[in-house]
Amino acid sequence: MKVLIVGSGGREHAIAWSVAKSPKVTKIYCAPGNAGIAEYAECVNIGAMEFDKLVAFAKENEIDLTIIGMDDPLVGGVVDAFEAEGLRVFGPRKNAAILEGSKAFSKDLMKKYNIPTAAYENFDDPQKALEYLETAKFPIVLKADGLALGKGVLICNTLEEAKAGVQEIMLDKKFGDSGNTMVIEEFMTGREVSVLSFVDGKTIKTMTSAQDHKRAGDGDTGLNTGGMGTFSPSPFYTKEVEDFCNKYVYQATVDAMAAEGRPFTGIIFFGLMLTADGPKVLEYNARFGDPEAQVVLPRMKNDIIEVIEACLEGKLDEVDLQFEDNAAVCVVLASEGYPVKYEKGIPISGFENFKDKDGYYCFHAGTKFDGDQIVTNGGRVLGITAKGSDLKEARKNAYAATEWISFSNKYMRHDIGKAIDEA
Ligand code: AMP
Ligand code: GLY
Repeated sequence: MKVLIVGSGGREHAIAWSVAKSPKVTKIYCAPGNAGIAEYAECVNIGAMEFDKLVAFAKENEIDLTIIGMDDPLVGGVVDAFEAEGLRVFGPRKNAAILEGSKAFSKDLMKKYNIPTAAYENFDDPQKALEYLETAKFPIVLKADGLALGKGVLICNTLEEAKAGVQEIMLDKKFGDSGNTMVIEEFMTGREVSVLSFVDGKTIKTMTSAQDHKRAGDGDTGLNTGGMGTFSPSPFYTKEVEDFCNKYVYQATVDAMAAEGRPFTGIIFFGLMLTADGPKVLEYNARFGDPEAQVVLPRMKNDIIEVIEACLEGKLDEVDLQFEDNAAVCVVLASEGYPVKYEKGIPISGFENFKDKDGYYCFHAGTKFDGDQIVTNGGRVLGITAKGSDLKEARKNAYAATEWISFSNKYMRHDIGKAIDEA
């Protein structure tokens, strides 16, 4: 079987690694890919938003299955473009990817189907938003409706901050058209857990849990990033939390989408907050998390191609999804200055240290070849992942492995997984 993966980050590297293990797969392509993905896949120079070119490539090269890693193409309708040509593709159609593409849509869905989430109001008129804020309780959360590279969420402690936020999102259009509509949401507190799941339109099978670290600096300080590190499983995702979510969140979301005439096939990523009033949904994503995929997929026992094919055939109920009884930690090596300003094109050394080391993975996020030399090509450069028999051992192994890699502006957080000490 020939597989095409669409995307270029650490998540797509983890997907490519997982796909490469399947005995069913004879050839992998990745568009556009990166220097690490090139180890398993032939990278083709087509952008993730170039739907016509992707479809033409899939037809010409007789691709049997395309896997979409990223949110932008999904929300933009890449799956519909493939399906229109009779091509097999894994991911939600445009009318289902809206679960991630519009926060106003997802909030209204949760309200309509009684799925626990923070109280909120949607606004498309900045004046009305400002009036609402006058009598609101603080802190309060402002969210641009559409995709904003994970940066369209503002937590405002005062009315002044919130007014500036409305200006930024709705008037200055800092996140473009994503800010045409805005959600104003109750501020919640609690631990965050990410739960990814496979969905076939009607059945859902959740994967093992994970936790991300979104802020750039140690101690959760600094700006929000795409994610600076993850661990899996989360010790805070207890049986009780899981039972609650099985009852009120997971199947309820899949059923709600089907009832709305938007059946969801692909990955649903549940961003949960464990509040004093029980688990609540912070957000939905319509794809694997990055860097959640880097700690979840290495622990998955199943052949990913078999699970994806079951999703496409509506037979996910027949799959026994299983994860190893161990743990994994991913520490992101970033370029100093990320997420604001940073240098690229810097030579990286030390990859050979990962050769034949079982349970250690060097997932590339932003790298490329400069001749024979691999150089940095983004804010997040590598996701150093290690497994261990438990979280503490996995963390120790992952941090040890971060030392195997060198580049002059290497930056990382030193407290990934620190929360596990409190569990
Ligand atoms: P989202 O993109 O909706 O997951 O938001 C990004 C991050 O903002 C989340 O991971 C939380 O840390 C934070 N956040 C979002 N919504 C809320 C909320 N209602 N209360 C507190 N924190 C929130
Ligand atoms: N790690 C968060 C995300 O993928 O959205």
